[in-house]
Amino acid sequence: MKSLLFAANWKMHLGPADARAYCTTFLAHSAPMPGREVWFFPPAASLEAVSGALKGRADLRVGAQDIHWEAKGAYTGAVSAGIVSQAGARATLVGHSERRKIFGETDADTARKVRAALAGGLTPMLCVGEELKEREAGNTLAVVTRQLAGALDGLSAGDIERVVLAYEPVWAIGTGRNATPQDAGAVHRQIRTWLAGHGAPHPRVLYGGSVNLGNIAALLAEAEIDGVLVGGASLEPDGWAQLVRTGAP
Ligand code: PGA
Repeated sequence: MKSLLFAANWKMHLGPADARAYCTTFLAHSAPMPGREVWFFPPAASLEAVSGALKGRADLRVGAQDIHWEAKGAYTGAVSAGIVSQAGARATLVGHSERRKIFGETDADTARKVRAALAGGLTPMLCVGEELKEREAGNTLAVVTRQLAGALDGLSAGDIERVVLAYEPVWAIGTGRNATPQDAGAVHRQIRTWLAGHGAPHPRVLYGGSVNLGNIAALLAEAEIDGVLVGGASLEPDGWAQLVRTGAP
């Protein structure tokens, strides 16, 4: 049985009070399951509330949605690896497509953030994925490879092994339209090949984009998919607990 990682990206939802209530309900509906981890990526302001509420469950982990690459300084509005660690984070998303598209994050920025996360003891979860026009032009694998190289080139094999990958086709995020398990599997194979060529033969590669109760079993049945990164379907604690419970084939 492969081990599975279920990651909840709350995006800009659930402040500290709502997050605490969410955790109470989630815990009431969820028990640890062998070979399954659940990671939560709340907004920065809710990190401490969530890490406090979930402590005591070794299968649950909290991460930030984004960090700045500098350790400290005059960067109004930003948070560093050290700051989110103090608030209980043990991981961080890097390069989510909303950061890339809405906030103009570049491949060079993702490279700095991956390094800052590793230096700060956080597990980076690097998000890659193509836009619809890139897929339609047949450029999916080129785009994903460029994003991988942009973020990870120059790192040691040991560091690359510490990175979790999330393949999220941009056209599938929040649209209700997910990649087929076979399409996702093909991109995952490419990601694995790239990582193996850089000294990381056993990476964790998640799929993200409109994952829900209706499609998760088929996605996880794909050998290449080690788990899921979920936005919308992670926002209701009982539904999310159900997805984590019933997701495996
Ligand atoms: P979605 O978001 O599940 O709402 O499509 C996924 C993500 O952006 O990580």
